[in-house]
Amino acid sequence: MILVTGGAGFIGSNFVLDWLGAGLEPVLNLDKLTYAGNLENLQSLKGNENHTFVRGDIGDVELVSALLLKNKIRAVVNFAAESHVDRSIRGPGDFIQTNVMGTFNLLECCRKYWETLSPKSKEDFRFLHVSTDEVFGSLGRAEPAFTEVHRYEPNSPYSASKAASDHLVRAWLHTYGLPVLTTNCSNNYGPYHFPEKLIPLVIHNALKGKPLPIYGDGQQIRDWLYVSDHCAAIRRVLDRGQIGETYNIGGCNEKANLEVVDTICNLLDAHKPKAGGKSYKEQITFVTDRPGHDRRYAMDASKIERELGWRPTETFESGMAKTVQWYLNNTQWTENVASGAYLEWVEQQYVGNA
Ligand code: NAD
Ligand code: TYD
Repeated sequence: MILVTGGAGFIGSNFVLDWLGAGLEPVLNLDKLTYAGNLENLQSLKGNENHTFVRGDIGDVELVSALLLKNKIRAVVNFAAESHVDRSIRGPGDFIQTNVMGTFNLLECCRKYWETLSPKSKEDFRFLHVSTDEVFGSLGRAEPAFTEVHRYEPNSPYSASKAASDHLVRAWLHTYGLPVLTTNCSNNYGPYHFPEKLIPLVIHNALKGKPLPIYGDGQQIRDWLYVSDHCAAIRRVLDRGQIGETYNIGGCNEKANLEVVDTICNLLDAHKPKAGGKSYKEQITFVTDRPGHDRRYAMDASKIERELGWRPTETFESGMAKTVQWYLNNTQWTENVASGAYLEWVEQQYVGNA
């Protein structure tokens, strides 16, 4: 069995669904169900005996230690985090608590568990830490994309807390020998993306006739990757990655924010035209920029392609078309998030400790 932390969030839930869809090992899903955790994402797994959900905190030493031991965990994939840059600016405390202290606790529990394993199980055990390109800071327009050896230069409380967690993971390998792997990925998009982030927020606001907020001049660049491609990369690293290595994951899709929003508007104009024939682009509104806003991220993913044979399957165009279609087909999901009804879902579906 593998332990997935944060498996009710955006990427974690996509990962669990893809993993079980591929017929791999049973999953123990540990998630605190913060505002970002949504059990509705995992609705299709109801009654699936290969999926066990536990509501809990990665910082809870007793709970994590007991789960590892009782379920004979073979690998841990750590998605659990506070993940939204804007929230980290307004309130950094939770980011330090979960991303730094939580990862520290998880590493310590894993180390103590791992030390009790038989030589064979010890060799097979993996701790895979899911991190971000944001730890590398901001690139100038003409600079080459981030490689794995780029200097860490985080600029937001979010990226600084993720950078700290990456360093802890590295130290647990070098000091204690814990078999760790780290992935640093670019911006994801796709189904079950919480509508506080750019792409789902713009789709939701567009359909509601609300403003589409563009920070600053909208020329900040992100490298967008469809979420299932990220999940496939993590599976590949878990399966074939070299212990102690870090792998950059990216979509080779550098787009300015304004271009992303234009693409969404074009897709909505085609598939859900507004009454009166006007474009959703009319709702674009320029707003005050985010403090410390990183100008450009770009990932050089040649190492994972060369060494592990992974590359993205979706282009920006195909991934965005799928994504917009998913949100058009699943308006109730976004409605439930926007209204807070998804929190009731948590109360109804919560199944207790494994
Ligand atoms: P998310 O905010 O959608 O989900 C995070 C999940 O973690 C939620 O379900 C939440 O309830 C859970 N959680 C939070 N604190 C917890 C705690 N203390 N204990 C247990 N569970 C807790 O985030 P996401 O976008 O799915 O990102 C997942 C991971 O991937 C994060 O580590 C993030 O840094 C990383 N990442 C995200 C992106 C992206 O574009 N979203 C890109 C690269 C890396
Ligand atoms: P976001 O989805 O929050 O991801 P991140 O900050 O981790 O890259 O934002 C993506 C980009 O979109 C980022 O440059 C900030 C910008 N943005 C807006 O212009 N308007 C918005 O309402 C949001 C949420 C983000």
